[in-house]
Amino acid sequence: MINFEEIKNQFDKDIKETKEIEKLEIKYLGRNGVINDLLKKIKEIPQEQKKSYGQKVNELKTSIKRLIEVKRKELAGKKSEVFFDKTLPGKSYPKGSLHPITYTIEEIANIFQKIGFVRVSYPEVEWEYFAFEALNMPKDHPARDDFETFFINYPKDKKYGKIVLSPHTSSGQTREMKRVKEPPIRMINIAKCYRPNWDITHVPMFFQFEGLCVDHNINITHLKGTINYFVKNFFGKDREIRLRPCHFQFTEPSFEVDVSCKVCGGKGLLNNKKCKVCKSGWLELAGTGMVHPNVLKAGGIDPNQYSGWAFGFGPERCMMMKEEMKIDDIRILYNGDIRFLEQF
Ligand code: DAH
Repeated sequence: MINFEEIKNQFDKDIKETKEIEKLEIKYLGRNGVINDLLKKIKEIPQEQKKSYGQKVNELKTSIKRLIEVKRKELAGKKSEVFFDKTLPGKSYPKGSLHPITYTIEEIANIFQKIGFVRVSYPEVEWEYFAFEALNMPKDHPARDDFETFFINYPKDKKYGKIVLSPHTSSGQTREMKRVKEPPIRMINIAKCYRPNWDITHVPMFFQFEGLCVDHNINITHLKGTINYFVKNFFGKDREIRLRPCHFQFTEPSFEVDVSCKVCGGKGLLNNKKCKVCKSGWLELAGTGMVHPNVLKAGGIDPNQYSGWAFGFGPERCMMMKEEMKIDDIRILYNGDIRFLEQF
């Protein structure tokens, strides 16, 4: 008599131990395998038992087939778990990038650090005194109107006045003089500034970088040389600057700095027509001048011994004037449009 139970037990043992499912499959289901042998033996089975014998063999075959398929899947799963190909390229996740103005500020800071300027960052929330008074701006100066400056609702200080959101980085001049105490001073103050304006050339929050140089015998040639150095390094060797007389309370004499236009090569004309970008061959860049003696005094520096110059630029404007940039509205820098920002 055939002992089906014994065969099934043997199979259960084999399948538990096997790591090679194909071998097991051949052993039980192959042409000369256990099941086929059982089928061949049907000849020897007495007629009346043939039917139930055949049924038992079929049941055993179905069960073995099913268990082999389960085991095959199990082993395949284990294989892929164990096998890990380190050489396959990894999945790349979307990366963010720095804001274009952050890159611009880093570039500007590097240019000035190379010639010994110390990078500082003075308060964005500032006393009126440092923002105006110390810069020789009288109480009735139009910039001190609340159309031009954000005032913070906070009790007034007897000496320093109200609190404002700093409208320019010039507020850092007096703070730097007080910090260093004795010249030489070479400061590059890069910080956020605030003014209530919103149009294609103005945003209420923007950056400025303020240069301040104070030492013995500092004059306009040093100022012009430094701005020229910056412009050539930032915009390119073929760009020129010019100083145009202007008025600021905190400098005397005062100038506006223009840089030659890249589009028309500084001619103001393109194909015999007025250049659309600059209209005159020059683009306005910054305010500058020789530090007013009253400002030096406010910083505790003797104007009879020392002189200095200062300038204030907008990094946004500088970036927009780079030759490869085609940005005609400053607001795009700060409205958070990812389609614009992801290009940097
Ligand atoms: N503070 C001025 C502004 O925001 C810019 C400026 C002009 C800065 C002349 C200076 C300067 O240091 O000397 O418009």
